[in-house]
Amino acid sequence: MKVRSSVFASFILILEGIGVALFLRGFFPVPLKSSISSKNKLSDLPVEPLTGSSPNSSRLPQPLFKRVVIMLVDALREDFVFGPNGRMYMPYTRHLVERGSSYSFVAKARPPTVTMPRIKALTTGTIPGFIDVVMNLNSPALLEDNLIWQAKAAGKRMVFYGDDTWVRLFPKHFMEHDGTTSFFVSDYTEVDNNVTRHLDSTLKRDDWDILILHYLGLDHIGHISGPHSSLIQPKLMEMDDILKKIHSALISKEAEGSLPYLLVLCGDHGMSETGSHGGSSEPEINTPLVLLSPAFKRK
Ligand SMILES: *[C@@H]1O[C@H](CO)[C@@H](O)[C@H](O)[C@H]1NC(C)=O
Ligand SMILES: *[C@@H]1O[C@H](CO)[C@@H](O)[C@H](O)[C@H]1NC(C)=O
Repeated sequence: MKVRSSVFASFILILEGIGVALFLRGFFPVPLKSSISSKNKLSDLPVEPLTGSSPNSSRLPQPLFKRVVIMLVDALREDFVFGPNGRMYMPYTRHLVERGSSYSFVAKARPPTVTMPRIKALTTGTIPGFIDVVMNLNSPALLEDNLIWQAKAAGKRMVFYGDDTWVRLFPKHFMEHDGTTSFFVSDYTEVDNNVTRHLDSTLKRDDWDILILHYLGLDHIGHISGPHSSLIQPKLMEMDDILKKIHSALISKEAEGSLPYLLVLCGDHGMSETGSHGGSSEPEINTPLVLLSPAFKRK
């Protein structure tokens, strides 16, 4: 009897061990081995999808755009732009989506829908792990292969204004940056004004190729009072005005014969009905992705 119960106990213990191991393996997926040397090179380019031939490894593909502006609005939910209220919240953007030279998509954010893992996912193209949530507050420099590193290696001059998580992930990549802190969640005005104050002068200049803006105010409003609060509409209208300002500046800079610009509006994740995020519900994972460029056909 004694022997049988101890065998049973060890069996249960082993089973528990396997269970815990299986859980940890799923919850904390093994990260891709990251090292500086694992950055892709031109010779690693995949086969051209249309021709099926190998790319010419001694020559870079021709660029399609002259400059790119990426405007990321934290917690921008898909229905804030594409939904029935979108016409009221973001009239200019909505008009461009429906009538302008644009492509728009609903982008699905992989959980965990938290800013730092989402920035990593957007720039590396890999799936974030749950371990990233734990490290959300203290993000060390990103060593995996990523768009920002590749752009810098290709000699692109980048400017960044907004959530200082970017500055910590990409410490020496930007020729100019101004990080705003997301520490004071009750502040939804200064975090955005600190980004917008640079726009007038930066948009006039010609010394940059990529401009990245990360606006935090909307996310803070979500955390304070949810997606149906009376603060949401004025904030979205502010974002709409900023997009209009950038779009007009890019149009006025457009020169005959040079490559067109590309303006991207996106979110890093959405917002649940209570205004939080992190999970995998539809309003949290669906974000708008709007691409604007005269290179696209007018609708
Ligand atoms: C690759 O590009 C170079 C430079 O334009 C050219 O000389 C070479 O013939 C090309 N190679 C192939 C395989 O197309
Ligand atoms: C905005 O900028 C001012 C002056 O540079 C700075 O003192 C303040 O902390 C910034 N606010 C945020 C939220 O980053």
